[in-house]
Amino acid sequence: MNIDQLTEVAYAMVQPGKGILAADESTATIQKRFDAISVENTEDNRRDYREFMFRTQPAMRDHISGVILFDETIRQKAKDGTPLVEVIKQSGAIPGIKVDAGARPLPGCPGETITEGLDRLPRRMQEYYELGARFAKWRAVIDIADGIPTWTAVKANCHALARYAAICQEADIVPIVEPEVLMDGDHDIKRCADVTEWVLKTLYQELYEMRVVLEGTVLKPNMVVPGKKSPKQASVEEVAERTIQVLERCVPVAVPGIAYLSGGQSDEDATAHLDAMNKIGGFPWHMTFSYGRALQAAPQKAWSGKPENVEAGQAAFNHRARMNGLASTGEWSKDLEKQGA
Ligand code: 13P
Repeated sequence: MNIDQLTEVAYAMVQPGKGILAADESTATIQKRFDAISVENTEDNRRDYREFMFRTQPAMRDHISGVILFDETIRQKAKDGTPLVEVIKQSGAIPGIKVDAGARPLPGCPGETITEGLDRLPRRMQEYYELGARFAKWRAVIDIADGIPTWTAVKANCHALARYAAICQEADIVPIVEPEVLMDGDHDIKRCADVTEWVLKTLYQELYEMRVVLEGTVLKPNMVVPGKKSPKQASVEEVAERTIQVLERCVPVAVPGIAYLSGGQSDEDATAHLDAMNKIGGFPWHMTFSYGRALQAAPQKAWSGKPENVEAGQAAFNHRARMNGLASTGEWSKDLEKQGA
């Protein structure tokens, strides 16, 4: 294990002004995104879409530190034969890879899931390293509802995350550790704060027990928000303050950075919340974005699968990347948001 290299990559992933593009949708998940814009889910369409995103400038050069890829994409070539991994590297971003096999029902725990994919992971990691990946992602899913999460699900998912992280580091790949507390329910923000704190406390204990070197990791958490169906929504300031409070209680200072998932927030909410946290500042980590939907929804809509719309799709991606880049240093504003839209 090369700790210096892991640490260097982890810091590069969360450098100020930049964040991560989560473009690792599985074939089933991109199907949902393509259905929304009436695009057929073929290998060529997936390639064309991702190629135009990865070739977007100045977004890629100025605001994207790394790109999380799906297994198919890390092996794909652009139309001109250049591997997509090379296209990403040419703009100065680091290629990464999603390695989990998705969340499946957790036996004995109705309504809860465990993320699978540990079997043969060490061998797969070696191959991904050779294909150019320098970081990886594993997403654990924790749902909030009556009686859940259970301790069984929290423990099992954090244990799997720690096992994955240790395997990554053994292969000189930085683990993005992603315990996502979903925002699907009708719970209030306090409940999200309590569950997120419980999960993060458990996670860092498991990482310690699994001998993971925190300096060579990046945390990808949810923000502390009320459930989407909660009658009581929260202000931008409350989300920022509660999220910082929970992280300060749970995340060791040795962790280089925090790259949030957007989790179903609107594009502007995801940007405004990140910006508000960085305006408050005073915490020991770099805080940035690792957004899937909040970076891609606008470009997908503008593109809608038509070659003549690639420019419009790229303009939309440039705008979202710039807005989130500004939010990563607390320099975003509603005026800037409107100007580029
Ligand atoms: P969202 O930003 O759409 O939540 O996706 C980020 C991600 O990588 C989820 O695993």
